Amino acid sequence: MIESDFIIIGTGAGGLVAALHASEHGSVVMVTKRGALDSNSNWAQGGIACVTAETDSIEKHVSDTLIAGAGLCKEAAVRTIVSEGPERIADLVKWGVHFDQRESESGHLEFDLTKEGGHTARRVLHAADATGREITEKLLAAVRSKPNIKIYENHYAIDIITTAKLGLVSEDRVLGLYVLNETSGEVHTFRSDRVILATGGCGRVYLYTTNPRVATGDGVAMAWRAGATISNMEFIQFHPTCLYHPQKRSFLITEAMRGEGARLIGKDGQEFMQRYDKRGSLAPRDIVSRSIDHEIKRTGGPCVYLDISHKPADFIASHFPNIQKACLEVGIDITKEPIPVVPAAHYQCGGVVTDVNGATNIRGLCAVGEVGCTGLHGANRLASNSLLECCVTAQRAVAHLLKKIPQGKQAEQSYELRPWQTSGDVENDELVVIYHNWDEIRRLMWDYVSIVRTNKRLQRAAARLRNLKREVQEFYWSNHVTSEILELRNLVETASLIVECAIRRHESRGLHYTLDFPQTDDSRAPLDCTLRRY
Ligand code: FUM
Repeated sequence: MIESDFIIIGTGAGGLVAALHASEHGSVVMVTKRGALDSNSNWAQGGIACVTAETDSIEKHVSDTLIAGAGLCKEAAVRTIVSEGPERIADLVKWGVHFDQRESESGHLEFDLTKEGGHTARRVLHAADATGREITEKLLAAVRSKPNIKIYENHYAIDIITTAKLGLVSEDRVLGLYVLNETSGEVHTFRSDRVILATGGCGRVYLYTTNPRVATGDGVAMAWRAGATISNMEFIQFHPTCLYHPQKRSFLITEAMRGEGARLIGKDGQEFMQRYDKRGSLAPRDIVSRSIDHEIKRTGGPCVYLDISHKPADFIASHFPNIQKACLEVGIDITKEPIPVVPAAHYQCGGVVTDVNGATNIRGLCAVGEVGCTGLHGANRLASNSLLECCVTAQRAVAHLLKKIPQGKQAEQSYELRPWQTSGDVENDELVVIYHNWDEIRRLMWDYVSIVRTNKRLQRAAARLRNLKREVQEFYWSNHVTSEILELRNLVETASLIVECAIRRHESRGLHYTLDFPQTDDSRAPLDCTLRRY
């Protein structure tokens, strides 16, 4: 049994920020299924949106967020997160994160702010085009310098232990976790009554995604099995510009490139976005992705193109060095030619329902970052608001847990935690089943549940997923647990939650667009796609 004052699952930006705050108050255990830098945050290119310029205002940022969210944002949460942004940026800088700066007109240094779709001001702080890497590397170094934070890498959180799961009917609260040590194959019990989920999103549910291999919806699936309320999973954001190249399938081309003047063009070299929206290439992502999807279908081409070659080569090299390098590796010189791009699954706007402190309906369990659903994003996330949300809710989650669960690891000793009861003991020699099901889920989600949906496609997806879920469950119960089985189990659960939410939304709104209900219907209760397990 491993005990600590806090357990944090996930080592992306939300997890690392939470760990640094929590370490001021007690012992912290971090659990991550791969290496500490294997996270979605690490791959973030564009940056972190925050009001730092005198010409900008909290009001403008709130308003841009609400407009993007298409009527489903929780305004109070938006206001809190946007207003507390500057303090959290100061924390990042204190922990060693360096954002690009430039000399202002009056000669002092200021943040070099960039712009992305849906923002009415330049407010995105960035570190060239690898902001996530800068943030996660510096935060991880700060975390590693704290003696009371221990990181368990290659440890896969299987399930959350709660009083309800132990069959105790009093208030449902969290007691700890079962965790698979992937090296030894043993399952350990981690005990704490303060658990923070910071597991990121679920892009890998789809065939085409900008997300790394680890983004398999683990947190949402685990929280759902533990009895947490889930909402808004139908709102999967498709990023309009993922590199279209067989050797680099998940490589993102940051929206900041469009913010700096890149134009979306068809294979005829003509710009097309003005035909769809007067904001052109900088319209919100849902509109741009749908327009590209339409253009691709209309012209029969496999992709569209993003062109920045009209900008000076030294400007491109200083602003987008990583993209330039990655494209050159596959023979595309972005200073001279347009980049082939397609939309791909990018961000999960829904998730585990929380308040602005990340608190879920299970006492002691918080969810921060992409896995949570505070109401900041509503039906469509404003670009670069997610790292901001991670930092604000992670700090708030720690404060909330200290206040609401003052006892720390000493608490709840009266509950005896059963050791892990093994699922089956058959040595798994059928990896092919896992890979087959994994591929099938991702393809069916892409074909039936992506940018444009219909009732029929959603029902088809639901039927297939029901069968797959049954198969995966049988497999799970009869075999030794392995990370492959656990990932597949979470993938099919998360895919099913996306489809279930999408089936319930009888309108088109934000990122959910269906040909059967093409209009937005404001008469519908905004959160009618909330799923409760009990
Ligand atoms: O385009 C980008 O760099 C992505 C930013 C984001 O998803 O917030």
